Amino acid sequence: TQPLRLGIAGLGTVGMGVLRIIRQQSALLEARVGRPIVISAVSARSRDKDRGIPLTSYGWEDDPVALARREDVDVFVELMGGENGAAKTATEAALAAGKDVVTANKAMLAVHGQTLAEQAEAAGRVIRYEAAVAGGIPVIKTLVEGLAGNGITRVMGVMNGSCNYILTRMEDAGKSYQEIFAEAEGLGYLEADPQLDVGGIDAAHKLAILSSIAFGTKVDFNGIQLEGIERISIDDIRAAADMGYKIKLLGVAQATGRGLEQRMQPCLVPESSPLGQLDGGTNMVVIEGDAVGQIVLRGPGAGEGPTASAVMADVCDIARGWRGPVFGQAASALVTPTPAFSQAP
Ligand code: NAP
Ligand code: HSE
Repeated sequence: TQPLRLGIAGLGTVGMGVLRIIRQQSALLEARVGRPIVISAVSARSRDKDRGIPLTSYGWEDDPVALARREDVDVFVELMGGENGAAKTATEAALAAGKDVVTANKAMLAVHGQTLAEQAEAAGRVIRYEAAVAGGIPVIKTLVEGLAGNGITRVMGVMNGSCNYILTRMEDAGKSYQEIFAEAEGLGYLEADPQLDVGGIDAAHKLAILSSIAFGTKVDFNGIQLEGIERISIDDIRAAADMGYKIKLLGVAQATGRGLEQRMQPCLVPESSPLGQLDGGTNMVVIEGDAVGQIVLRGPGAGEGPTASAVMADVCDIARGWRGPVFGQAASALVTPTPAFSQAP
């Protein structure tokens, strides 16, 4: 049997997690997918950095585009991040070279998802991105495959662990937003640009992707009514607690008579509800379908193991030959949504 040969671009938290799984679980993976999964070559910014695992048995490319075009690569695994730049250029190069793509990059997909999907589908390639939304929770597979028989009526949830950590800690410690933000930053919980987390942008990227799959619409990040958690004070949190509520950065997407409603905003949720009891860095996604009713998915939304777990789910699907359109139906069939809200100028 032919091995599935990967080229991994990005050897940070997620990339090294993927490398570890492939090294430690090669027999299990082969048993499950029926063929070996091997790494042909890797790429990162610095070749000399000590990453705790020797990389000498893999090919090396300084340029991720060169990695994407290598003949011994079947699947380009993009784990560099960023909406544009190397991630997008190399992803496009991989598709043009006839490779499938696996990525964890929600920023790139939320903004360029439609054009990348059109390019992939025209070339007969797949882009898989389970890790891009809610880390280790298999929410993409659930929507695309598990709930394929449903008209989806609503998707909502807590999709950014850092914001959930900050809001939970403010309540538990009785400290200000500024104090807990500094604590979270010191612990390395926030993105290199923390505004992506606390401004709600990272969570909105994820909601935009889920919304497209759920409602058959082109990814519409700009159509999201967006507000972050920066203005939540300890007094807001105490007032909510006095009434039996908690404040969560909640994403909601639903089809309404006015159009597609997409919000990512701090919301009051009852303390006793599953969302109200969601503490720390955990994520929760609630999906409502016209046949199934409501299902709730809960789990780790970030970190090396959970995110690499989701990347490997995609790699295994490709190894098994499972293919399909990027957003659950052909990119050419996705409609441009009418946002339910008029946007602020
Ligand atoms: P990270 O730790 O910052 O690692 C990024 C890696 O990409 C580094 O190895 C870096 O090289 C490499 N890189 C960056 N720019 C490059 C370029 N121009 N050429 C070659 N290599 C380049 O990031 P991460 O946390 O692993 O995240 C990777 C992706 O997963 C992002 O899209 C992120 O949003 C997504 N994600 C992350 C998590 C999480 O929990 N971390 C969860 C869900 C999704 P050097 O090491 O040499 O600097
Ligand atoms: N910053 C993100 C979060 C990482 O806190 O959820 C995972 O996408």
